[in-house]
Amino acid sequence: MKRRDLLQTGVAACGVSACAAACARRIDDPVAIEVGPPVRGLVQVEASRVPEVLRPGGSVLLHPEGADFLGRPLSVLVANTTSQGLRGWSAYCPHAGCEVAWEDGGDAVICPCHASRFSVDGAVTRSPATADLDTYPAKLSPDGATLIVDISGSGGVFPAAQGGKVTFAIGQLPQLSALGGSVTGHSAGVPFPILVLRAGPGQVLAYDARCPHLGCAVQGAQKLVICPCHGSLFKLDGSVKLGPATRPLAPLKTTFDGATVVVTVA
Ligand code: FES
Ligand code: FES
Repeated sequence: MKRRDLLQTGVAACGVSACAAACARRIDDPVAIEVGPPVRGLVQVEASRVPEVLRPGGSVLLHPEGADFLGRPLSVLVANTTSQGLRGWSAYCPHAGCEVAWEDGGDAVICPCHASRFSVDGAVTRSPATADLDTYPAKLSPDGATLIVDISGSGGVFPAAQGGKVTFAIGQLPQLSALGGSVTGHSAGVPFPILVLRAGPGQVLAYDARCPHLGCAVQGAQKLVICPCHGSLFKLDGSVKLGPATRPLAPLKTTFDGATVVVTVA
């Protein structure tokens, strides 16, 4: 479904109060820019093609080649935020899948369909969406010629590795408190993203999060692991459920005593 169709669908389904809230604000409706596929999780586009996002408050919608785990075309919103400079988000609203837009001047992401709102950090600040947007680091190359968006991982961050181990209390990462919860993130000193899954009451699993297909970072999705770049699916034991990946995820030795998780990364 194209953005315009989504907007029309959303307007049709939008409640009066929600529409009033959304329409009272200045919402960018950027033209989507088609770009090449992510390479090792990085989406790159010449800055000259996206002048909108170079001005403070501006935004652009990128459509890299490839599909996400639901088979939707990849879609990434990038904005030049007031508080954090360049920033990217997964552009599909967690409520019903409309493409979100940047609220110029509000320093927020908004969904034109039913007026859900998200902070620059991706946290939902207004329903009906109840889940956050994934956020992506974005920057210009040192010569300013290329916009680079890293869609390889979620915003999760683990403590720095020490002695080849990443150690943290389960309470430090609320996403892991519920069964099926997961975090994909980085740890200083570890040259790859890590996926940690709460697979059972006393079971925590961890994997090198690099997809064996082309290296994008995989993410947990309840009882599966998904790759957002080209849709590979993995079972919780790391084996491939659906390609294009053909090799399993690389497991990381993990211990969990009910309070502390220790992931061996070297
Ligand atoms: S799709 Fe309903 S608020 Fe976004
Ligand atoms: S990088 Fe292609 S499916 Fe994961």
